[in-house]
Amino acid sequence: MKEMTLAPASSPISGELQVPGDKSISHRAIILGSLAEGTTTITQFLISEDTSRTVEAFRRLGVEIEEKGTSLKIHGRGLAALQEPYEPIYFGNSGTTARLMLGVLAGMPFFTSAYGDPHLTRRPMDRVVEPLSAMGGHFDGRNNGSYLPLAVRGGNLKGIHYTLPVKSAQVKSAVLLGGLFAEGTTEITEETPSRNHTENMLEAFGADIKTSGCHIQMTGESSLAATDVTVPGDISSAAFFMAAAAIVPGSKLTLRRVGLNHSRTGIIDVLIEMGTQVSIANKQTIGGETFGDITIAHRPLKATVIESDIIPRLIDELPVIALIASQAEGETIIRDAEELRLKETDRIQATVDGLNRIGADVEPTADGMIINGKSALTGGQAKAYHDHRIAMMLAIASLIAKQKVVIDDVSSIAISYPDFFQHLRDITNR
Ligand code: S3P
Repeated sequence: MKEMTLAPASSPISGELQVPGDKSISHRAIILGSLAEGTTTITQFLISEDTSRTVEAFRRLGVEIEEKGTSLKIHGRGLAALQEPYEPIYFGNSGTTARLMLGVLAGMPFFTSAYGDPHLTRRPMDRVVEPLSAMGGHFDGRNNGSYLPLAVRGGNLKGIHYTLPVKSAQVKSAVLLGGLFAEGTTEITEETPSRNHTENMLEAFGADIKTSGCHIQMTGESSLAATDVTVPGDISSAAFFMAAAAIVPGSKLTLRRVGLNHSRTGIIDVLIEMGTQVSIANKQTIGGETFGDITIAHRPLKATVIESDIIPRLIDELPVIALIASQAEGETIIRDAEELRLKETDRIQATVDGLNRIGADVEPTADGMIINGKSALTGGQAKAYHDHRIAMMLAIASLIAKQKVVIDDVSSIAISYPDFFQHLRDITNR
């Protein structure tokens, strides 16, 4: 436990920042680099607890990975040369490691066992176990393999046509990764587009994959070629500082080289809709991923409705969007976001509890929240529920609170953003 007391900001937010590499893309670069033939170099890799779980998982499977700062060199072993590990694989708190690795392990003609921390152990794995079993993987665990720890015996997979029953890029990616090892074609249909980093990177590594709208088709058993990856800055990390500039009057902040993949930029659309001034410069695209510089300038905020197809495009930003909405005139409604209840913690409950404890007016609903703005935040004691995004949201809220905000435990922030407090100091001079 690492309690943290944060005082209000004494001046507007200003300057510029480069946020760390994208977490989703960093995980996928390790996975595809390990499964490719040859050496893959990853630059601007996110060094964090979650991504190190994926690195360690592949080391256990016999892949040599060299780390030098944020550059990683992966000596890929191809699809057929991973080794049966001696010990169980630990996924820590990382849902992305767990779901995506289960796709890979389903393809391995050997036995593995895997476990997670107490939070991950409560999160559903049946959403990937079910389609991967239909492809031919064998899983066992509590409640018919619905939860970690899981025992996996993989191999001999066959492609399937799968319609995603949940809006989840992790499920889509697990099926695609299993599909790499499967005989025949794997087809996926999703109702609402979710982040497409796996598809983009598979294409960059030479997989036989085609996407058209919400339909993906990939031929299995063809080899991947090592391909260098430059990881854009993580828009989900940038979101905290975008929020800081949006809620502290007089602020103007530039975030450099942030990922701008359309499946992730919902927060930009929402900020513009709420009245914030947002501009984007220096756009570039590498390996199918676009990035650029985002400048946010504070303007008075107005309430909005966030629902339907935009939800997967900002799912991880909803706690901090609720904070922004607490500073907007009127009633902001968030709906269709029931997936929030299945994240690192129940993020609807944790966001409502955290914000209300420090003076906001937020009501939970089954699939979202209603935020009544504008509230003067008072400060006080709040709980982060060992969820990195709740802890960072509360830290940003402290900038505009009248009194100090005391967060019970900020250690979870190392899951995705170990330099968060340094960056917060850099832009607030505190
Ligand atoms: C992720 C997908 C999302 C997101 C998570 C990362 C990924 O989860 O919330 O932080 O990298 O694929 P779901 O697929 O469960 O929506």
